[in-house]
Amino acid sequence: DLNPIDKAKFIAAKRAVGFVQDGMKLGLGTGSTAAWMVRCLAERIREEGLRVVGVPTSTRTAELAVSLGVPLSTLDEVKWLDLTIDGADEFDPSLNLIKGGGAALLQEKIVATASDQMIVITDAAKEVVQLGAFPLPVEVIPFGWQTTKALVEETLVSMDVLGRDVTLRMTGDRPLVTDESNYILDLHLNRIGNPRQLALVLNQIPGVVENGLFIDICDIVIIGHADGRAVVRD
Ligand code: A5P
Repeated sequence: DLNPIDKAKFIAAKRAVGFVQDGMKLGLGTGSTAAWMVRCLAERIREEGLRVVGVPTSTRTAELAVSLGVPLSTLDEVKWLDLTIDGADEFDPSLNLIKGGGAALLQEKIVATASDQMIVITDAAKEVVQLGAFPLPVEVIPFGWQTTKALVEETLVSMDVLGRDVTLRMTGDRPLVTDESNYILDLHLNRIGNPRQLALVLNQIPGVVENGLFIDICDIVIIGHADGRAVVRD
């Protein structure tokens, strides 16, 4: 009774949760696909008595995990994680990602980087030959954000990208505020020729906290299909 997209997300999440072993410290991603992962994990905890501890990447994920009885900790408490399972907005053939559609990219990148392994769960619609059709989220400090935006725009001139439109993410008539009290700029680039270089250059700009390009962080992508198949890329 799930619609095809939710079925695909569920299938990917279920397969990924199969990688979880007793005693693991887990990074819990954010978004609609990651929410399926939290539900599948809660089911294994309930049915098998699996002992795990999760570090959530957003208040949304923390609330869902608590409501389902998934034990939580903090990164400062556990220091290092065995496995992070998260969604993505786009992935390319090198398993590089765009993330942050759900505005949680900063915590997601910190948690994924602190993990021995990162598994991304997705439906087939997010597979691309080249990153950039999805607007690239960049988290910025509210102080002087318009100056930061102008510096980002200036930087894009010398980058191998097709579009250069930069917009402040809003919620209603106010800027969206992240869990870490920052703003999000969305970079409408259409095509990112050199994601590795762009990721480095963006993070050099004062006021930029982090960008949504995940380069060499993801180890495995699991693509769920509505017919029940899960395709594993690594
Ligand atoms: C959250 O900030 C994002 O990185 C999500 O992982 C991404 O937007 C995927 O979300 P869905 O699973 O809801 O598509």
